[in-house]
Amino acid sequence: MLFDPRPKSTRSELFDRDAELSELHRLIDEERPLVALTGVRRIGKTSVLRVLLSEVNIPFILMDARGLPANYGLRDLYALLSSGMSNKGFIESMRSILESIRGLRIMGFEVELAWKGRSALPLPVLLDYLNKRRVIIAVDEAQCLRGPRGGVFLEALAHAYDYDDNITFILTGSEVGLLFEYLGVDDPSSPLYGRRVDTITLGRFSRDDSAEFLRQGFREAGVEVPSHYIEAIVGFFDGIPGWLALAGSTVVSARGRIGLEELRRQAVEVAKRELMEIVEARGRRYALVLKLIAQGVKRWSELKSRLEEAEGRIVPSSVLHNILESLRKLSIVEDYEFLDPVYKEAARTL
Ligand SMILES: Nc1ncnc2c1ncn2[C@@H]1O[C@H](COP(=O)(O)OP(=O)(O)OP(=O)(O)O)[C@@H](O)[C@H]1O
Ligand SMILES: [Mg+2]
Repeated sequence: MLFDPRPKSTRSELFDRDAELSELHRLIDEERPLVALTGVRRIGKTSVLRVLLSEVNIPFILMDARGLPANYGLRDLYALLSSGMSNKGFIESMRSILESIRGLRIMGFEVELAWKGRSALPLPVLLDYLNKRRVIIAVDEAQCLRGPRGGVFLEALAHAYDYDDNITFILTGSEVGLLFEYLGVDDPSSPLYGRRVDTITLGRFSRDDSAEFLRQGFREAGVEVPSHYIEAIVGFFDGIPGWLALAGSTVVSARGRIGLEELRRQAVEVAKRELMEIVEARGRRYALVLKLIAQGVKRWSELKSRLEEAEGRIVPSSVLHNILESLRKLSIVEDYEFLDPVYKEAARTL
């Protein structure tokens, strides 16, 4: 189902993305060490990644780093890795290698990893074993690996980059600036300094593709929707497939009887919850800055004075600079523009 809210996992469920998938296949065929798959939230990164993995016929480990707690520890990291390795296909194709690793045990189709103590298995050692075969290690939302223990994975990645030619890492990230800051290929203090990251960025659907996506989804669900209504949905959601799919499935559940305003309201509500998480984690000032930018403020001096007006206090330039820089790294606002129109609407209501 095109409007299924979950990420897709086969090409037949996926609308378009053929060019991006061919490019990814090429990078895998060329055995590139490190590939990044980036794009704003809901653009289809997880779907494209899963479709790719379903097609390559190479054993893979897939981990969702969003599952890590904010200040995760070594145990959390090993738990994530062990759950990524605990899949039947991977274990079956890697069994003889896995069985030879000290600190790793196979229990049915689950993998136990020792993370501390005498039999602890350091990640670079594990990777050297896995390298005996061609393997893909995929981390969804890899910027979530940042944190006090972020260096552990990064050092293992840098080791594999230099020594384990059979391993390709694919990292996705919706907070693109944070992902690249974590990797630090331009940062002399990073273990990955100077390494190359082959990057594929998923863009929005064109207006025509967006309309076609909706038409196909409605046809599939057997719901008739007039074309001016489809055009209106396309106009609001700006080619972001996740929003189009959400709108489509809402229209389908209502058998077509739902107004555009209600559709927008529901999406804005979802986006607002996501923005609130950021505000709660980073402070109320973020809400004010987001709101001012959503209201159309496009210049530094105006933003600063209106923020100061609203707060009744003088805000140091460096503080405001940091907020704008963080919003850029989170892929929310760039050059005073929201990357997602639904976030912009939601920010007005903060
Ligand atoms: N090319 C596509 N064809 C069909 N459905 C798609 C496509 N791209 C995305 N979707 C749908 O949009 C939603 C978001 O997709 P997905 O979860 O893959 O995106 P994402 O970029 O990983 O999002 P997030 O940043 O939130 O993790 C899902 O419902 C998915 O099924
Ligand atoms: Mg995703």
